[in-house]
Amino acid sequence: MPSPRDRLIVALDLPGLREADALVERLGDAATFYKVGYQLAFAGGLAFVESLIGAGKRVFLDMKLHDIENTVGKGVESVARLGVTFLTVHAYPQSMRAAVAARAGSGLKVLAVTVLTSYDDIDLAEAGYSTGVDALVARRAQQAHDLGMDGLVCSPEEASPLRLALGPDMLFVTPGVRPAGTAYGDQKRVATPTQAIGAGADYLVVGRPVTEAADPKAAVEAIVAEIAAAT
Ligand code: C5P
Repeated sequence: MPSPRDRLIVALDLPGLREADALVERLGDAATFYKVGYQLAFAGGLAFVESLIGAGKRVFLDMKLHDIENTVGKGVESVARLGVTFLTVHAYPQSMRAAVAARAGSGLKVLAVTVLTSYDDIDLAEAGYSTGVDALVARRAQQAHDLGMDGLVCSPEEASPLRLALGPDMLFVTPGVRPAGTAYGDQKRVATPTQAIGAGADYLVVGRPVTEAADPKAAVEAIVAEIAAAT
């Protein structure tokens, strides 16, 4: 199991390189793992990913890939060559099979996104599904496990039942984490770091409670201390 500090992933949901660079500089050795998503990736963030890795940080590239197998496979090979640690793929069997095959022999771990947490049963019906959220999450998580995906992105409340169903050998990465007393923002179902670790999360993704804190480094240290106490 990684150290408490290495289990915190700070989401760099920031408009550009200047802001990202300033935050990484400010956090220094306090943070070791960063998540880069659409916003930063499409604003010069892929070169920034390489510089983070060059500086000894680990990177979770949250690109939520989904395409034909050949395209997913080639994309995953390129991400693996960047030296990225985690990459997200939507939990469709073709995409997952291609991702698992393409990351073989590299240090990259591929994480399945089962059902986006902004979707409820009505949204799924609108998109043409007759399955509800809970059943679809359970089905896709099991498929991700059976197809050899390395882990899942899941909410803290999904973590306990999924851990029971899937056993210990998948990594659970949970967003929606809010230290006590911090703003929820648009997250509806949140858990404290203590609750998320207790539910079986391996890694916690935290964005705004760090990026919008008056003292981001102190915010990181408080979360790391909470992870250590809960472990
Ligand atoms: O600022 P906050 O802590 O809410 O950021 C959480 C991060 O995790 C964001 O980058 C968000 O896109 C991501 N995420 C999420 N819920 C998911 C999957 C990813 O909040 N189900």
